[in-house]
Amino acid sequence: MPAKLITHIKCLVNTRETPGALYGNALAELPCIENAWLLVEDDEIAAFGSMNSMPPGTNETVSASGQFVLPAWCDSHTHIVFAASREEEFVDKIKGLSYAEIAAKGGGILNSAQKLNEVTEDELFARAWQRLDEVSKMGTGAIEIKSGYGLTVEGELKMLRVIKRLKEKSRLHIRSTFLGAHTYPLPYKNNHAGYINQIIDEMLPVIAAEKLADYIDVFCEKGFFSPEETERICSAGMQYGLKPRLHVNQLNSIGGIETGLRLNALSLDHLETMTESDISMLGKASRNGNWKGICTLLPTAAFFIGMPYQPARKLIDAGCAIALATDYNPGSSPGGNMNFVISLACIQMKMLPGEAINAATSNGACAMGLNNTLGSITPGKKASLIFTRPIPSLAYLPYAFSTNCINRVMIGGEFIS
Ligand code: NIG
Ligand code: FE
Repeated sequence: MPAKLITHIKCLVNTRETPGALYGNALAELPCIENAWLLVEDDEIAAFGSMNSMPPGTNETVSASGQFVLPAWCDSHTHIVFAASREEEFVDKIKGLSYAEIAAKGGGILNSAQKLNEVTEDELFARAWQRLDEVSKMGTGAIEIKSGYGLTVEGELKMLRVIKRLKEKSRLHIRSTFLGAHTYPLPYKNNHAGYINQIIDEMLPVIAAEKLADYIDVFCEKGFFSPEETERICSAGMQYGLKPRLHVNQLNSIGGIETGLRLNALSLDHLETMTESDISMLGKASRNGNWKGICTLLPTAAFFIGMPYQPARKLIDAGCAIALATDYNPGSSPGGNMNFVISLACIQMKMLPGEAINAATSNGACAMGLNNTLGSITPGKKASLIFTRPIPSLAYLPYAFSTNCINRVMIGGEFIS
């Protein structure tokens, strides 16, 4: 691939040398270079600087006049492998049923599991591929994808094999998470130990042997998996080298955070329902360095199911590292638009535009263990970049919440749109 020199960039956003997570107030600092150039060699960022110091050369040049150039979004929490949408439940919700009531009726995750077990692996792959294509055009360059709609040995393995194929075929960076413990399948409704044994004895050994997952996740929630069950499942996964990342405190605060901290989870996700003590526990562990994990907030899930928004300000003030992600799934967040996530984070959670952009890039990459590869404009990282249309300022991005501000997207050195 010939080197590409991108010139006259109005503003090059999130230029930094150090790829670590941004804790507490550090999230507010978003380093930028105005009137900049950027050199892309093969699939990597080779160098960048201000236009007054542009190197001479014969590279292919691309003018980005009037445009902001940002690292592509790192969406660190999704469930994009699913068989079908669930808009009938959406209508039930409009009529007044809660997320928990729909789940108790056999809807929700169980509904998705039934549909998933009825489609072939190829069909599932084709549907997920389409979603991946859709989100990449909206600026997503890295994405975490979970299983959890199989809930049988074959179903979970089918989902994970689809994710593996997506990894192999897509230009995007993909991380795979085993979420067999998403809910109890009907035959195990009253036999929790039986399903957990199946996860541990039948699913995990195959997942490890075929290298089908990078992480293990559990939906730790009332009516789903208890903190003790969560710990047992994660400990088994950790023996195969799968690091935990958890769904905690979405609907209730039941001790998932203590469990996550004990397990040293890479990421604790959702956090809609937080007590003051939950927040101070996370803050303390983050500040004293006992926990190096990320709090992944999913504002579109709160938006869609009508939950309170995650307490981003309090978590930042407590010293936590915040990431933002879409939770793209058919039940609680049927969309994968990171631009809208950032808008909601600013509008509803009072994050500043710079904080939201850092949370969706640098900290999102950390939440996927990709901080040496993506998430900032850093020499040696992958050239996965968002080129905006001419916009007046960076704050315009979250402000113009329903305008498509993206002109082109580059993934690994190549324009995909
Ligand atoms: O992250 N809450 C658990 N899992 C998903 C929703 C799954 C579904 O409703 O299909 C979430 O919100
Ligand atoms: Fe989720």
